[in-house]
Amino acid sequence: MEIIVCKTYQEMSQAAADITARQIDRKANTVLGLATGSTPVGLYQNLVKMNRDGIIDFSGVTTFNLDEYVGLPKEHPCSYHRFMFDNLFDHINIKMENIHLPDGQAPSLENECKAYEQMIAKAGGIDLQLLGVGHNGHIGFNEPGTPFESVTHVVELTQSTIQANSRFFNSPDEVPRRAVSMGIKTIMHARKILFIASGKEKAGIISKALKGPVTTEVPSSVLQLHPDITVVLDEDAASCL
Ligand code: F6R
Repeated sequence: MEIIVCKTYQEMSQAAADITARQIDRKANTVLGLATGSTPVGLYQNLVKMNRDGIIDFSGVTTFNLDEYVGLPKEHPCSYHRFMFDNLFDHINIKMENIHLPDGQAPSLENECKAYEQMIAKAGGIDLQLLGVGHNGHIGFNEPGTPFESVTHVVELTQSTIQANSRFFNSPDEVPRRAVSMGIKTIMHARKILFIASGKEKAGIISKALKGPVTTEVPSSVLQLHPDITVVLDEDAASCL
C-alpha cells in the first residue's frame, strides 16, 4: 500500500488526477471505476482541465460508477447520474456509450445488478477504481456488515449515511432509503485502487480503515488486502495515522 499525504485538498485532488492521467496515458482504453460525493469533485475539476489542455484523452476510456440511488430519475438533481454529468462527463471527450452507472429505476433491480456485473466483465474488468470513504467506513454503498464476497447488489442505507447525504437534499426524508452498489468483491477485483479522503472528520475512519483490524464492520478495512492500492490524503485526513 502506498500512502501519499498532501498538504491541502487541492494538492490531494491534483495528485489523484495525476495518477488517473498516468493510467490513461499507459492504457488509452482504460476502464475506470468512479465515485460520487464531495471528495472527488476537485479531482474531476482537474481531469476536466487536463482534458481541455490536451493532457488527457478520454476518447478510449470506459467508466463504471460505483452506485446509484434506487427510485431517483436520472435527471433528478441529486441522482448520481446527474452528478457525474455535471461534474465530469459533460466537460470531457468521453463517448456516451462508454459511460455506465447502475439504473436505480430498472424494472427488475435484481436483473440490473446481474447485468452490471456482466458489463464490467465484458469490458475486461476495472483497471483503476476510485474510492472515497463514508464516516462509517463504507465504500460504494457497502455499509458495515456487508460480506466481503458481495457483488453488485441492492443496499439498505444506514441512518448515518442517510443523515450524511441529506446535505444534498432538502431534508433527510427525501433521501432514498435504498441504492444499487457494486459489491466489495467487485471493488476488490479492480486491478488498481485509488483511495482518497480529506478533512479532519475522516481522520478517525481513515486510521481504522488503513491500520485497524480487517473486519466487515469497517468495509474499507478490506482494502488492506488489495495488492495494488494508492491512498491519497490531505494532512487533516491523515492526522490520526
Ligand atoms: C459515492 C460513494 C460513497 C462516497 C462516500 C464519501 O459514489 O460510493 O462511498 O465515496 O460516501 O462521500 P463524500 O466524498 O461526500 O464524503
